[in-house]
Amino acid sequence: MFERTILITGGAGFIGTNFVDYFSSRYPKTRIIDLDALTYAAHPQSFERQKTMANVVPVEGNICDEALLQELFERYDISGVIHFAAESHVDNSIADPVRFVQTNVMGTAALLDVSLKFWKKTERLDKARFHHISTDEVFGTLGAKGFFTEDTPYAPTSPYSASKASADLLVRAYVKTFGMNATISHCCNNYGPWQHAEKFIPTVIGKCLAHDPIPLYGTGLNVRDWLWVKDHCRAVDLVFQQGRRGESYIISAQLEKTNLDIAQTICAIFDELRPWHGHLHKELISFVEDRPGHDFRYASNPERIKQELHWQALGNFEEALRQTVLWYLTEGSTTLIPSKALR
Ligand SMILES: NC(=O)c1ccc[n+]([C@@H]2O[C@H](COP(=O)([O-])OP(=O)(O)OC[C@H]3O[C@@H](n4cnc5c(N)ncnc54)[C@H](O)[C@@H]3O)[C@@H](O)[C@H]2O)c1
Repeated sequence: MFERTILITGGAGFIGTNFVDYFSSRYPKTRIIDLDALTYAAHPQSFERQKTMANVVPVEGNICDEALLQELFERYDISGVIHFAAESHVDNSIADPVRFVQTNVMGTAALLDVSLKFWKKTERLDKARFHHISTDEVFGTLGAKGFFTEDTPYAPTSPYSASKASADLLVRAYVKTFGMNATISHCCNNYGPWQHAEKFIPTVIGKCLAHDPIPLYGTGLNVRDWLWVKDHCRAVDLVFQQGRRGESYIISAQLEKTNLDIAQTICAIFDELRPWHGHLHKELISFVEDRPGHDFRYASNPERIKQELHWQALGNFEEALRQTVLWYLTEGSTTLIPSKALR
């Protein structure tokens, strides 16, 4: 009944949930195994929903568990991997760096090794594709000008970005040393439904709802490059299916905003959707002590993916941000309740 089976890791997290939705409806004849450890960052309701999808098999388990990985490859004859699973929050990486090395480095190593052995054994090493989801944070930080490209030297600054950079280097080594058919994508900051309450945009939304102070690090002028999560999903699909073996692709809409811009835009959306009598939501904005090693600016040049794979971002920022706020006010309202395990 199915033409192929793909392993997606971390499919109950923010981007993974959006990607499984996108990929499962776009390719109904592809079976998707979603392997997710259901850490505090996962959405159990997303995992439950996947159980009702005809071509998705959600499996609770850890990417570091090689025996489980081997069993999944054998049982489902997996011919492609799209690897999202990671510890993803910079603040948590400052509190507990080793956990990031375990999941992001050791987990990627386990996944690469089991994939390599299975595809060698089944004589598919040339065709079977391993796609690793990386981040623009591996390139470090920029001043007021300039852009990252795929050739920018790695200069990670946080334990999170260092662990992602290490995973990327392992992927590159498996391409060169073993001939693995792997690709890497470096995406900028995503926004959209299903993002965990600990991240910046859901935090601002939660604070606006509760009329609590909105904490901005430092002066709030750090610049991030923002992408609608659904544009990211289309880009990952293109790189996975058509990207050149061994290549990296930057994914960005080149939409630079300061954290203050984002907070003010969300406050204005709240003023319209949930008026606060006698007040404006921007009165809630407050400034707190900066994060150690806080990168000033990220900005990337996505020319390669645009030229080679004809990808372009379609999301309109104001409209997509409004849709995001509306999602958190309606079906996503329970995702704003902070998890007990949140640090
Ligand atoms: N969110 C962004 O803006 C952004 C930007 C660029 C790149 N990325 C990358 O995209 C990927 C997904 O990010 P996200 O924001 O969706 O993350 P997330 O934290 O929302 O989700 C991560 C998912 O991985 C799962 N997971 C964690 N450890 C695991 C393990 N050991 N085994 C199996 N599953 C495990 C979690 O349970 C969770 O469901 C990550 O690799 C991240 O580095 C994210």
